[in-house]
Amino acid sequence: MSGPTCEPDRVIADLLALEQATGGRGEGSRRIAWGEEWRKARALLGEALAGLPVETRQDAAGNLWTVLPGERPEALILGSHLDSVPAGGWLDGALGVFAGAEALRSFARCGTPPVTIGLVDWADEEGARFGAPLFGSSAACGHGQGEALRGRRDVGQAEAAEVLAANGVELAGLAAAAELPVRGRAYLELHIEQGPRLESLGVPVAAVTGTVGFSRATVTLRGRAAHAGTTPLDARADALVAAARLILALREQAEAFGGVATVGTIEVPAGAINTVPAEVVLALDQRHGDPEALARMVTPARDFVAAGIDVSWREISSRSPVAFDESLTEIVARACREECGTAVRLESGALHDATEMATRMPTSMVFVPSRAGLSHNPLEDTDPEDLRAGVRTLCHAAWAAAAAI
Ligand code: HGY
Ligand code: MN
Ligand code: MN
Repeated sequence: MSGPTCEPDRVIADLLALEQATGGRGEGSRRIAWGEEWRKARALLGEALAGLPVETRQDAAGNLWTVLPGERPEALILGSHLDSVPAGGWLDGALGVFAGAEALRSFARCGTPPVTIGLVDWADEEGARFGAPLFGSSAACGHGQGEALRGRRDVGQAEAAEVLAANGVELAGLAAAAELPVRGRAYLELHIEQGPRLESLGVPVAAVTGTVGFSRATVTLRGRAAHAGTTPLDARADALVAAARLILALREQAEAFGGVATVGTIEVPAGAINTVPAEVVLALDQRHGDPEALARMVTPARDFVAAGIDVSWREISSRSPVAFDESLTEIVARACREECGTAVRLESGALHDATEMATRMPTSMVFVPSRAGLSHNPLEDTDPEDLRAGVRTLCHAAWAAAAAI
């Protein structure tokens, strides 16, 4: 088998076709999990893999697997996610899936690879519709979130169980996804950094050492509906004013702990311009690299009180900080050094499916910079030269990791 080669421009062409079909720079990506555009994105992935000696299947959690059989059943798994946040960027997740496809092709071009290669598009990594992130990869790692999704509805009031069933996924059947279609021995993922650090360092690629811990919850504040014109201010139990105070308190507290806190959505069911809000539902995401600090951020926030307001919390999903495998991260670092002469290592402030896979097998990631540190935004972008460097680095790390399995 002559040395494998990779074709970064093929990945860029695939990503441009995906952007053309499902949005990206400009009005933002439309690949919301379980929807029409997400299925269109998966069809484009199928086209990019056409003609290869692979088997493709969807597992019980909706993850889409493409398997290139090797001389041995032990497998290197490559992947990321095609789903996006609403009006997100063109690269978040998609870069890792199409770069992983190129790495799989690079093995296929040399004949039967020494080990089996599994490429996976993880289902619903973002949790943008129903709140639970890493949905498909958590199920594949035995932490299925079926109960977290039971009864949850998206902003359009569509129910999670029905939406997933329409995509062939039964909430009660997630456990079967833990039976992987390949005997995974290592997992690698290429992803955009989604923050400002690599751009400020002026490096095109970096090795990722792990991901921060997170806690996601819905917070419901209940006061009392009243007439906006006749109710004196001191006689109100205004849920929205209390929510505003809570949001500011969460931000100040995160600042004090050196973590981050985000209230990404706020709903006022049955709200009206001339009614004092009776109920407000917040979606809260808190993160920290240190587990104790994260726990301390979450606990006091639950103790928030406001006169006449009932506050209830429902945790959706949480995970402690995760450290990636040192020897696989060293393989990634070596590939970075080959690519650009230096091997920056950094922890990810964003979650990734690698967060879950690290609980199951040696896992690591490659990052490329994000322009102005922007992501989850239609302006999300990465210099094409850095994209090419990222694809080459992922392929080089994949070839080395496969040889080490
Ligand atoms: O939420 C995250 O960190 C990731 O973008 N899903
Ligand atoms: Mn992502
Ligand atoms: Mn994302």
